[in-house]
Amino acid sequence: MIKFEQVSKIYQTGNIKTKALDHVDVEISAGDFVVILGPSGSGKSTMLNLMGGLDLPTEGNVTVDAMPISTFDEKKLVQFRRKHIGFVFQEYNLLPTLTSYENIDMAYHLSDDPLDIDTALKQVGLTKHKDKYPYELSGGEQQRVSIARALVKQPKVLFCDEPTGSLDEDIAKQILKVLQNLNQTMKTTIIVITHNTAIAQIADRVIHLNSGKIVKDIRVKTKVDSMEISFSP
Ligand SMILES: Nc1ncnc2c1ncn2[C@@H]1O[C@H](COP(=O)(O)OP(=O)(O)OP(=O)(O)O)[C@@H](O)[C@H]1O
Ligand SMILES: [Mg+2]
Repeated sequence: MIKFEQVSKIYQTGNIKTKALDHVDVEISAGDFVVILGPSGSGKSTMLNLMGGLDLPTEGNVTVDAMPISTFDEKKLVQFRRKHIGFVFQEYNLLPTLTSYENIDMAYHLSDDPLDIDTALKQVGLTKHKDKYPYELSGGEQQRVSIARALVKQPKVLFCDEPTGSLDEDIAKQILKVLQNLNQTMKTTIIVITHNTAIAQIADRVIHLNSGKIVKDIRVKTKVDSMEISFSP
């Protein structure tokens, strides 16, 4: 589904070069729920951005669903992201002047094969909030709108960068539950970046990054339901 071959990313700011990813090889299977862990600056967001075609590697090949996206130009990358990829970030990035329904509707029109909007709203448990504006919703509800906006495109992969970062524990668990349900019912491949090691318990696979390299890659044998994990050690 996703393949990195000797992928490196070097950022240059003035004279300073930062090696954010260092010759990474990794393969992720369709339908997997993957958690990426690692300290700040270890390359997690860089890895996600390269997998989702938000950025290009300095070296190496990135393939997503048999598409060699590291050879794509910006125009082809835009098409790729629009049609195939869903992103959920820590900030919900909803348009403040649109209702929940209308925010999701924007993404609906990007896909060739979208899910209907009411089904997307139902998946995230927000049917009764569909006509509310973002400022009328809690943080967790806004994050669920942003998940619905991503999943309405029926993306091959859903990338989440710290999706529960600014939410309290109970709300965070509801968000994880939504992701877990999507993975199980719609077989969406899900990749979640987090600082929170507790979240690793709900994954099929946990990849640890440090200084731009994969330092641990673990298959989880006994997955836990998101409602059962405990955030405090
Ligand atoms: N656009 C950029 N320009 C220059 N350097 C960058 C850029 N983006 C990231 N970096 C650097 O690359 C390294 C990896 O950054 P990245 O954002 O991937 O880390 P991260 O693991 O997501 O960290 P965090 O947990 O803090 O979000 C860091 O040293 C960072 O400063
Ligand atoms: Mg990051």
